[in-house]
Parts: sequence; C-alpha cells; structure tokens
Amino acid sequence: MRVAAALALCCLLLLPRPALAAWGAHGMVAADHRLASRAGVEMLQRGGNAIDAAVAAIFAVGVVNPASCGIGGGGFVLIYLGKSGNAVALDYRETAPAAASRDMFVRDGKAVADLSRRGGLAVAVPGEVAGLAEALRRYGKLPLATVMEPAIRYARDGFAVEPHLADEIAEAAPDLRADPLLARTFLQADGSPRRAGDTVRQPELAATLQHIADDGPPAFYRGAMAKRIAQSVQARGGILTEDDLKQYRPTWRRPLRGSHHAAEVVTMPPPSSGGGVLLQILGILRHDELAAFGPNSPTFLHLLAEAMQHGFADRARFYGDPDFVHVPLADLLAPANTASVRRRIRMSGTLDHADYGSTIGRGTGGRAAAVDAGTSHVSVMDADGNAVACTSTVNTAFGAMLVAGDTGIILNNEMDDFSAQPGVPNVYGLIGAEANAIAPRKRPLSSMTPTIVTRNRQAILAAGGSGGPLIISATTEVLLNILDFNMDAATAVAAPRIHHQWTPAVLNVEPGIPPLTRQALARFGHVVKEMRDMGVVQAVRRTAGVFEGASDPRKGGEAAGW
Ligand code: GLY
Repeated sequence: MRVAAALALCCLLLLPRPALAAWGAHGMVAADHRLASRAGVEMLQRGGNAIDAAVAAIFAVGVVNPASCGIGGGGFVLIYLGKSGNAVALDYRETAPAAASRDMFVRDGKAVADLSRRGGLAVAVPGEVAGLAEALRRYGKLPLATVMEPAIRYARDGFAVEPHLADEIAEAAPDLRADPLLARTFLQADGSPRRAGDTVRQPELAATLQHIADDGPPAFYRGAMAKRIAQSVQARGGILTEDDLKQYRPTWRRPLRGSHHAAEVVTMPPPSSGGGVLLQILGILRHDELAAFGPNSPTFLHLLAEAMQHGFADRARFYGDPDFVHVPLADLLAPANTASVRRRIRMSGTLDHADYGSTIGRGTGGRAAAVDAGTSHVSVMDADGNAVACTSTVNTAFGAMLVAGDTGIILNNEMDDFSAQPGVPNVYGLIGAEANAIAPRKRPLSSMTPTIVTRNRQAILAAGGSGGPLIISATTEVLLNILDFNMDAATAVAAPRIHHQWTPAVLNVEPGIPPLTRQALARFGHVVKEMRDMGVVQAVRRTAGVFEGASDPRKGGEAAGW
C-alpha cells in the first residue's frame, strides 16, 4: 500500500502545476506578481493604454519582487501599435561605466567571478528609469506620476511577501545581512529571513520613487540621487560616476521580424540574443510538421534540442552590442542558413560538440547552467490592439547586493553578462567571444526575449520571461505550444520544458518530462539532467476578441484581466 501511495505521490509531483488563466474583454496584464498585474489593469481602467499598463506593472514588480528587477536595473520593451501595425523596440539595457576595461575582472590572468557578481565593480549604469519614462513619453497616455502611483503605494504601505520572494530572501540571507538597508528591509530584527506572509515596507524606496514621479528621470540621473548612487558604488570598489549616469540614454531599435506559419513573430534585436536565437530556432523547425510529432514526443524534443544547440552555439560566437560589433543576423536568420542547419540535424542522434552552429562560425567552452532568480517580464494587450512585451532585470537575485545609500535602490550586477574573458562562462554557464567583451559604455549581451506575435496585422500573443538563457528556450516553447500544438496560454505556459544551451553539453528537462521520454532522449546521445522551474513566462493571448492571460506557476504570479 505504502509503495502504491508513494508512486501515486511521485506521479502527482511530476504533473506540471496549472497556471491560473485570467480572461478579459477590455485588456489583460500578465506579470509575475498579482499586485503588479493589478497595477497594470488599474491604468487600463483609468483610461491608459497597454504602454501605460506595462510601465505601471514593471515599476510595481520592482517593488513587490525586488530581487528580480527595479529602478537599479535595466531592460527592453517591445511595443506593437494596433492602429498602424508598426512595432518598435526600446533598449534601456545598462551600460558599462566609462572607466570599464576589457580585463577589469581579470586578476593574475584569470577572471574572478565574485568581482563581476557582488559589490561595486559589478554595477553597470542603470537604464530602467530613463527607459520606462521614454516609452511612456512616446507611446503612453498617462503622466509618469500616475503610472508610478501603485509602485509608490506598495513601497510605502507594504505588501505581504509571496513564497517566491521568501525563497529568494532565505537563499540570499547571508549577503543581505552585509548591507544595513537590505537587512532592515528583508530580514527580521533577529537576522532571520522574512517569511511568506510577512509584511515588507520600503519607505526609502517609496521616497525615491515619489521624487522620480515628481521630477522625472533627471531626479535619478542628476543631482543628489546620482551622487549617492555613484558614491555608494565607489565606496564598494566600483567605478561608476555621476557623469556615467548623466550620459545614460535609452536607444530605440528596429525589432526583428520573422514568420512562423501564417503568423509574424516580432522580437528583440541585439544587444539581446533572445530574439535572434528564438527566430533561428523557429527558422530551423520551419518545414517540420511539429503537430504530427506531438509536444512531448522524443522525436520533437530531440529536434528542438538540436535546434537550440545550433542557436546557442551561434549566440556564443557572434552576439554582442550592435553599437560596437557587427552581429551577422541577416546571415544567421536567412532561410538558406536555417535550412542548411536543419539539414545537418541528424534525427538518429546528436553531433560532435564542435559541429553545432551555423557554418559561418563555431564557438568554444562551457559549464553547468544556473537557475536565474532575477529578471521579470510583463505582457500586456489592450482593446485598441496595442501589445507590449517588457522584460526588466537587476541580473541575479538582488543584483550586486548593494543599495545606493539611503535611496532604497538595489543596484544591478549586469557587468556579469559580459564575457569577463572570452570563453570563460558567466553565472549562467554562458560563454561569449570577443563580440561580448567589456568596453566603456557598451551594453552587455542579454537573453531577454520580449516577443509579440501577429496575424493579419493583429497582435495575437505577447510573451517573454525570466531565467537567464532559459528565457530563450522557455519563450520559444510557449510560442510553439500555442502556434503549433494549439494549446491555450495557461496550458502552454505550465507545460514541462526542455533546455539545451549547447555549452555545457547537457539537455535539461523538467520533472514533468516522463522517464521513458528521458531514456529515449538519452538514446539519441543527449546527456539528460533534471532541472526544476526552467524559466518563468508571462503570456497574453487574444482569441476571438477575448484576452487570455497566463502567469507562470513556477514563480506564482497571477494575470489580471479587465
Ligand atoms: N541578466 C540576464 C539577461 O539579460 O539575460
């Protein structure tokens, strides 16, 4: 009996947790925290559009999921304008300080990981405030002060810690203890971590946000606040200056546009690798009848894993900040190239490690992937046909573990997204080449993949996620689940995933991938390893005039509709 009960429990644990679907007639916001989704809906109800809602939700999530993102970080926002059918992408990724140099993390010939992950040197110039304000200025309808109201409220009045944040706090507790403001905010008086259900208040952050709401981005990038940010970073060994903050500018970029069956896929260009690798994987799979294989069939998963390996091999070799290096996207995404890569995929087994990647180039090196705790994504659609996919991050949980004085601003550790040394892996096990080497004012390569799918000039899906390199695979899989396997958004987001980033040569599978499928994948030649919670995706879908939102159960968010 006991064995049977244990087996039944094991089977239950293998089932994916369901995503809570939300439905709405007027609009939808999917964030990885229910209060952030509600902040977005509040803007729609006050006459705002999808851009107002997305900006409100991202400011709010920076307060209620402060380990993931916030005004000390940066990100990307992709906007599809319902009226014109135009799409625009805003890059508010952090930049390396002007005093940064190629080997700044190298000591005695070796990259020192701790320097790029903790403390002052890890901090890149934040872009969040400038970027969100610019997106709002160009395409929003409501004033900055209005869209920041919910974030300020949550910071000032407090909110109950959700289980995901409680886990982050518990894991980071030793680092949080080292910073007085982080300790006061996230730990109890006796130094133990705050738990789920405890109230967190951030009065210092509330005052900072109010200042920005009143005076706009100059409140952050000039004057007393900029001085405090620079001084705090320098006091912890960093090189970021007031002038770096003054010089920071977000950049409008032309989105990448590709097709998948009858749909158009609009996504983020470099300095994210996310959109390029996603389109490359879709291009490689373009002529396969995926629906005939079935979503969890070993044949489909092998084919998908091989397409991922080729995409990630090219990521390692070619991708970097397009203002500094040429990323050969036209060649990589050309149908002739993706078809040639597809021909090289063997349906009977894997290739030699060095044989992955487009034949226009190859990459090297690697190690185990880490589950990313940082980063947050918001997907929004409104009744006017606008769609927004916005991803922000402080990189790993609580960024550099450094607060800028008494401002409550948690600063990012985005410098770790550069290749500290070509071929040496970052925290996600990702390697890069010269293309992603450090240079003054350069943007580090990202995996963030805000993506919008349209059909007949109507946005039908907005998606994206968090999880470092897992963002790319998870977003791709959600798209395939919806476009090829006809799943609704909630099922597509909750479905078990796989991930292969070429280096290391490991195929990660979630617990929901059955043992027999894993064995079949191993027979193809994959080194199969189980990994939990592979990426966190927020998706909003429009179908028959109704909006469906799904927040990934892996992080416990909740979409909100209106
Ligand atoms: N910091 C994670 C990323 O941008 O990919």
